[in-house]
Amino acid sequence: MDATAEHGDGRDGAARERAPEPATGPAPGPAARPAPGPAARPAPGPAAEPATGPAAEPAIRLDRVRKQYPDGTVAVHELSLDVPAGEMCMLVGPSGCGKTTVLKMINRLIEPTSGRLFLTGEDVTRADPVKLRRRIGYVIQQVGLFPHQSIAENVATVPKLLGWDRRRIAARVGEMLELVGLDPKVYARRYPHQLSGGQRQRVGVARALAADPVVLLMDEPFSAIDPIARGRLQGEFLRLQAEVRKTVVFVTHDIDEAIRLGDRVAVLSQGGRLEQYADPATLLGSPANEFVADFVGSDRGLKRLAVTSISDVDLEHPPVVRPGDTLAAAREAMARDGARWAVVVEENGDLRGWLSAERAAGGDGPVSERGRRMAAWVPRDATLNQAFSVMLQQEAGWVAVLDGSRLVGVLTPESLHAALRRSVDSTEPETAGAV
Ligand SMILES: Nc1ncnc2c1ncn2[C@@H]1O[C@H](COP(=O)(O)OP(=O)(O)O)[C@@H](O)[C@H]1O
Ligand SMILES: [Mg+2]
Repeated sequence: MDATAEHGDGRDGAARERAPEPATGPAPGPAARPAPGPAARPAPGPAAEPATGPAAEPAIRLDRVRKQYPDGTVAVHELSLDVPAGEMCMLVGPSGCGKTTVLKMINRLIEPTSGRLFLTGEDVTRADPVKLRRRIGYVIQQVGLFPHQSIAENVATVPKLLGWDRRRIAARVGEMLELVGLDPKVYARRYPHQLSGGQRQRVGVARALAADPVVLLMDEPFSAIDPIARGRLQGEFLRLQAEVRKTVVFVTHDIDEAIRLGDRVAVLSQGGRLEQYADPATLLGSPANEFVADFVGSDRGLKRLAVTSISDVDLEHPPVVRPGDTLAAAREAMARDGARWAVVVEENGDLRGWLSAERAAGGDGPVSERGRRMAAWVPRDATLNQAFSVMLQQEAGWVAVLDGSRLVGVLTPESLHAALRRSVDSTEPETAGAV
């Protein structure tokens, strides 16, 4: 299991712990991979189309779906929602707003009162619900494992129903347990009560994926799990989703979970009313109304740091000197820019360290004698949150941004702030105008 997935937000830690010695070190290596997380993916804005082209049908389409229970409760007024193939759509909202009802209408555990439901363009509103459910994996908070069946038997549930032969089932069970990070040799023969809550939840995911459904529905799957294990499960789930690329509808009441996991987030209010449907950055940057603004929280600016990637236009370019330059030349370069420090960069562009004006004062040896190593750096695809975090952890006044081991620019508190402003402005509706 990837160590970076072990923490709720292990990405910051990873960037710091793996900080190389730029003077000698190789390319930052593993830490430079795209971090697992919402910001690591291109934001699925309205322009983003599934790989199959602009004409592709959404994997799931709810068309004015309504649910009125027999006692008269209208759990869901007319809800219309498209979920593109391969994306993770989060349904988030307060308790009782209709999330579970919406989810169960998708696999017809609850029959809509009116409206229509499409799977990849096919109207399944009246399709055989049993057959429909075999194409849809379902994971719930209580997991719902069969207590008197082994883990292997639990995972094999749907393949058995589908009449797969024993060999194929056994192979699939092993594959699924591996996929969710449970060693089949250890866990296949155990029973649910011999597992932790988090492990049971992973078995629930393995079971839901076993028959390779097109759609995965998840109803608050991690909410009964303690916060640390939950963070880990979220990280694992992102990694798994990057591999299997299912169309997922994921219900949660936790806005942080929605922002971390979702390609898109649908914010619902009472009666299943859709208040906003947007990618996490847009939701945080320009909530559609008071309800959404309240729901995402007053710290939405801070949350936004975690879903905003560093952009080249945010970077500053301080004076650059070479290790072999003379101190006099370095002093001159800093004076020319009115800078109090310079970055020391190798001939090939690799970051070597930095040199302050104070340390450069007097004498005339080479820069390499006085330069210092630079531990505060982030890979180019990092988020603003990671950059900020490294800056705090290293007690640094600035952070180097590296492409491999090559310097592409630096971030200071001022440029970080400007970057955050820019990212908010870029999602502000046109009509908001300048202030
Ligand atoms: N079987 C039912 N009969 C009547 N009302 C129900 C039934 N199930 C849910 N409700 C009501 O429908 C509304 C939405 O419920 P639900 O979809 O479970 O919300 P959520 O999952 O967002 O907490 C709530 O007011 C709930 O009390
Ligand atoms: Mg619910």
